[in-house]
Amino acid sequence: MKAVTWQGKRKVSVDNVPDPVIEKPTDAIIKVTSTNICGSDLHLYEVLGPFMDAGDVLGHEPMGIVEEVGSETGDLKVGDRVVIPFQMSCGRCWMCDKTLYTQCETTQVREHGTGAALFGYSKLYGQVPGGQAEYLRVPQAHFTHIKVPEGPADDRFVYLSDVLPTAWQAVVYADVPPDGSLVVLGLGPIGDMACRIAKHNNPERLVIGVDLVPERLARARARGVDVIDLNDHQDDLVAVVQGMTNGRGPDSVIDAVGMEAHGSPGLSLVQKMAGMLPDALAAPLIEKAGVDRLAALYSAIELVRRGGTISLSGVYGGMADPIPMLTMFDKQIQLRMGQANVLKWAPDILQLLTDDDPLGVDDFATHRLPLSEAPHAYEIFQKKQDGAIKVMLKP
Ligand SMILES: NC(=O)c1ccc[n+]([C@@H]2O[C@H](COP(=O)([O-])OP(=O)(O)OC[C@H]3O[C@@H](n4cnc5c(N)ncnc54)[C@H](O)[C@@H]3O)[C@@H](O)[C@H]2O)c1
Ligand SMILES: [Zn+2]
Ligand SMILES: [Zn+2]
Repeated sequence: MKAVTWQGKRKVSVDNVPDPVIEKPTDAIIKVTSTNICGSDLHLYEVLGPFMDAGDVLGHEPMGIVEEVGSETGDLKVGDRVVIPFQMSCGRCWMCDKTLYTQCETTQVREHGTGAALFGYSKLYGQVPGGQAEYLRVPQAHFTHIKVPEGPADDRFVYLSDVLPTAWQAVVYADVPPDGSLVVLGLGPIGDMACRIAKHNNPERLVIGVDLVPERLARARARGVDVIDLNDHQDDLVAVVQGMTNGRGPDSVIDAVGMEAHGSPGLSLVQKMAGMLPDALAAPLIEKAGVDRLAALYSAIELVRRGGTISLSGVYGGMADPIPMLTMFDKQIQLRMGQANVLKWAPDILQLLTDDDPLGVDDFATHRLPLSEAPHAYEIFQKKQDGAIKVMLKP
């Protein structure tokens, strides 16, 4: 089959790789019909290369049709239309019982001390072949799937794999009071969708989105979000936001940016160093040192009102990042974070994936390209060229 493979820093290719086969009774094989590129894939493309091997199949936002099932896949049947969550979870362990599916004790990657295995997401998360491919092997398939109805185009459902539950969890964790205010840092797919969900829950609520890319700002503004262009407010962002929030700052801040934030020159040095070293030296550097560019997190800490809540959905990966504990403690900040527990939120979200499309998923993708154009797709998404905000690949 054809699959998108990681080949090195800023290099992916579309190659012929062996077709996946059923390896365990709980496996299923999916024929992929749509599969997205995510901001998290960009971290592999740029910073997390030391945890990748050339040839690793990328992708964790697929949907498709069940092609083959093992003998223990429960009610999953050949021909079912399914979205596959980005994490693998068993549905039976102590963590799954608590709906902490990203911490599943059956799929945890103990070798690296990390949580549940993720599709197409480096050795840190199990090096499981991903879903930017014609076919995907789904481990723990009896539980790791969301059945969706026939009828609407894939666009309606495909974001259940990641964007929707991640944005949903970000908003839940942000714990915005009913009439409170929310700042969303980063208006990529995750931040954009978090704004939409926060507005859907309460259209009167003040939601402020911050980014530096004109079309991303425009897209959020068109849905009633107050936007701030960071290019114009690099130095006075806090003052501007305070001016909009009674001088105190917002009740809640979502960081939808993560480890590659714009505007952190000092720390990007470690990312650069890690990029130049051979993997054997770079991987321990990343695992022990602070590699993250922390501009967005620092903004969140500065912006949020005293006693407010920060919700981190942007991915961070450094082991020793410098954090302003004095400010965080003094301001009595509450902080929640983590990968989204996809199947926890899917039933609530499915109710909003209707013909009237309140969250605007049907035209959320800016690009729909054949799988063979993945190298171009990664490039325009990373460089924010050609209006690329969300790219869907079609095998
Ligand atoms: N927690 C999860 O389960 C989960 C799931 C999916 C994605 N993510 C993470 O969420 C983050 C966003 O993902 P995405 O797909 O929207 O990616 P993206 O890269 O398209 O979006 C990031 C946005 O942040 C903006 N930005 C950069 N620096 C900024 C700054 N200092 N202040 C404000 N905005 C800034 C960029 O212009 C960009 O629009 C990534 O870190 C990704 O890994 C987490
Ligand atoms: Zn993703
Ligand atoms: Zn489990």
